[in-house]
Amino acid sequence: MNDYTEEINRRRTFAIISHPDAGKTTLTEKFLLYGGAINLAGSVKGKATARHAVSDWMEIEKERGISVTSSVLQFEYGGYCINILDTPGHQDFSEDTYRTLMAADSAVMVIDASKGVEAQTRKLFKVCVMRKIPIFTFINKMDRDARDTFDLLDDIEKELGIATCPVNWPIGSGKEFKGVYDREKKCVISYADTEKGTKEGTATEIPVAEEDRLRAQIGDDAADKLLEEIDLLDGAGADFDLEAVRAGDLTPVCFGSALTNFGVEIFLKHFLQMTTTPLARKADIGLIEPTQNEFSAFVFKIQANMNKAHRDRVAFMRICSGRFDAQMEVRHVQGGKVMRLSQPQQIMADDRKILSEAYAGDIIGVFDPGIFSIGDTLCSPREKFQYEGIPTFAPEHFARVRQIDTMKRKQFVKGIEQIAQEGAIQIFQEFNTGLEEIIVGVVGVLQFDVLKYRLENEYNVEIRLDSLPYEHIRWIGNKDEVDIGKLTGTSDMKKVKDMKGNPLLLFVNAWSVGMTLDRNKGLVLTEFNKN
Ligand code: G4P
Repeated sequence: MNDYTEEINRRRTFAIISHPDAGKTTLTEKFLLYGGAINLAGSVKGKATARHAVSDWMEIEKERGISVTSSVLQFEYGGYCINILDTPGHQDFSEDTYRTLMAADSAVMVIDASKGVEAQTRKLFKVCVMRKIPIFTFINKMDRDARDTFDLLDDIEKELGIATCPVNWPIGSGKEFKGVYDREKKCVISYADTEKGTKEGTATEIPVAEEDRLRAQIGDDAADKLLEEIDLLDGAGADFDLEAVRAGDLTPVCFGSALTNFGVEIFLKHFLQMTTTPLARKADIGLIEPTQNEFSAFVFKIQANMNKAHRDRVAFMRICSGRFDAQMEVRHVQGGKVMRLSQPQQIMADDRKILSEAYAGDIIGVFDPGIFSIGDTLCSPREKFQYEGIPTFAPEHFARVRQIDTMKRKQFVKGIEQIAQEGAIQIFQEFNTGLEEIIVGVVGVLQFDVLKYRLENEYNVEIRLDSLPYEHIRWIGNKDEVDIGKLTGTSDMKKVKDMKGNPLLLFVNAWSVGMTLDRNKGLVLTEFNKN
């Protein structure tokens, strides 16, 4: 226990995950509105228009009006200090998106009520499951025609394999959306389409026990249906169990409409009550408790060239224990040096605020003169330990890369290796040959453009990328027990190795992965690599 326990315990650090267009940005904006952290002009993400914001650091982002990097937003609400980690979507989906989840203590999953679980949610969800962090679900766009509520819950349970527990229950959807039933208070909160962008209006609360009032408010048909559904739900649904929520086995579900700002504050309040304070993290000396240890942090993301004029790199770190202050000396464990961190800053929308202090749970960015790598540990000079590494996630797109001017081989190799070290891309080689043939793997296709752009602009090397048909990559979980040369795969399978010499297999489709497993008894293939 130390004297800043209170500061740490009021921190809540979570990532928002969703498929593009489900309403993540809109929900985040509404959260921030409650915290008073923004005026809408500087909103979270600019689409095609002038609302450029947050992380448009790289030229490529500006050209396309999208954000390549994950951003961090901090705001205060109800005595809590909240850190939201945004996970970029669409084309800008990258390994950083996954890594961001390593810095969060819980996740909010936004689902479009007319669509249910979609591809990107599924991918991000897998990482949350691996980490066993609590997941809270907001089913959005109830003001539009939605799928049947029971079907939506069923979809989450079957697709994602997590039990659901509705905190509230929607009454109709689209034009017939009447509000939600709060299961704890046993009352109906009627829907009011408040003026967009304002705080939630004063909702009318009607206890279901007052049936006449209820019928007058929502109509007989909706009331009949609701009463029937409440019966079904109370009889069949999973009981609320906070332990199961904290273990990531049960997701509390709220329904609402982020756009019209209905159900957002209810969700936020429930979420804050149920989610966790900053979690202890695993290190080689055991668990490091946030409030019982001195300062420590790990690097989860490195962003190069945030400001081209200065060719700078910023290392983002998650503080895991204690308090950070800008004057203090810290030990960079992997680099074996004790140092002061330069220009510690909090990245907040399009502002970068120089920080004087921060606590466990917070995310800070520091100037990186090229010494940090993803997964590095920083701690007090009096201590020396290392946090568990950040896994490497399976890329889904592959290309063969060659430099156009063969005279520039040296710059090419240097550039590509540095960019790979930052974690923006992964590079592989043919299993039995050297660096002549480089295969690049990325999680999101935009990373190919980023690679091309950066090699041209930073290393003065033009490249050609020829895309390869592989979509699945697997590390060999038991490589010491397997003779790679003797593996019998499918005809489309390719054996490669990563920068550390780990063997991997590339496949064109999921069927080949299964077939290879069938043909090689005892072979263990993994989608994450913890080496
Ligand atoms: P994302 O970050 O998950 O990609 O989604 P975003 O919030 O940008 O929302 C995607 C679209 O869905 C936006 O419309 C947004 O206004 C709309 N939306 C979000 N929440 C709701 C909701 O509760 N109800 C309804 N009806 N719509 C919702 P857009 O026209 O694509 O963008 P914009 O021009 O409004 O920015």
